[in-house]
Amino acid sequence: MVGILAAMNRDQIRRRVEELAPWYQNIDLGDGVWTKDLEGSRDIFSGHDIPGPLWRVIARDLPADLSGHRVLDIGCNAGYMSFQTKQMGADYVLGIDSNLGAGTSFIHQAEFCRSVLGLDVDFREQSFFDYTPEQPFTLVLFCGVLYHLEDFATALDKVMTFAVPDTGLIVLETAVEPITQTRPGLRDYNGDTSTFFVPSVGVLTELVRERGLRIEIVRTLGTRAVVFMRPPL
Ligand SMILES: C[S@@+](CC[C@H](N)C(=O)[O-])C[C@H]1O[C@@H](n2cnc3c(N)ncnc32)[C@H](O)[C@@H]1O
Repeated sequence: MVGILAAMNRDQIRRRVEELAPWYQNIDLGDGVWTKDLEGSRDIFSGHDIPGPLWRVIARDLPADLSGHRVLDIGCNAGYMSFQTKQMGADYVLGIDSNLGAGTSFIHQAEFCRSVLGLDVDFREQSFFDYTPEQPFTLVLFCGVLYHLEDFATALDKVMTFAVPDTGLIVLETAVEPITQTRPGLRDYNGDTSTFFVPSVGVLTELVRERGLRIEIVRTLGTRAVVFMRPPL
C-alpha cells in the first residue's frame, strides 16, 4: 500500500484527496497539495485552516526534539498532530479516532496521508474509551475532543491512565465559555450539534485538579483553552 501510494503522481494524489473529502484537517501533502479546499465548500468547517494555527501555539511549549517519546494522539482525525510529533522525532506515535461525524473515515484519511508523507505512525479506528495500551505514553494529546463527550468526567479519568504516572505530559485543548454550558440534543454550538460540554476555564481547571493532575500551563485563545498537565504518581 505504501509503495503504491508513494508512486502516485500529483494528480492522482489530488484525485484521492477529493475522493476522501470532506476533510476537517488541512494537511500539507507536499508539492502544493493540501487536504482542505480553503476556497471551496466541500469540507467540514470549510475555509478554516485546522489545526495548523492551534498546533503552532501548542508546539511552542513542547520540547523541540521528541526523541525518546511515545505519543498518543486522541481524536487524531486525519493525523495532523500525529505527523507533526513524528516529524519532531518521537520514537512511537499512535493516533486513535472513532470517526465521530466523519463523512468518510477519518482513519482512512489518516492512512492515506501517512502513505503520501511516508511517516511511520500507527492508527486505530476505535473509541479511546475502549482502548487499553500495553505501555503508557510520555505525551498524550487530547485536543478538540472533550467538548464532544457527555461523559466528560469519565473521559478525563480514562485519559489520565494513558500517561506515564508523574512524568507523562497531557495536553488538553477544548472549547471554553465564560459560563459553563452543556448542550444536550441537537442544540448547536457555533453550528456544531456534536458539542455537548463547554466549561469555563475555572470549571475545566477544577475538573483537572480534583483528579490530582498537576497543571503546568494554561493558555486561553478566545473560546479555546490549552492546558499542559501531569498525572499523579
Ligand atoms: C474536533 S476533532 C479534533 C481533531 C484533532 N484532535 C484536532 O485538534 O485537530 C474531534 C475528533 O475526535 C474524534 N473523537 C470524538 N470522540 C472520540 C472518541 N470517543 N474516541 C476517539 N476519537 C473521538 C472525532 O472523530 C474527531 O476526529
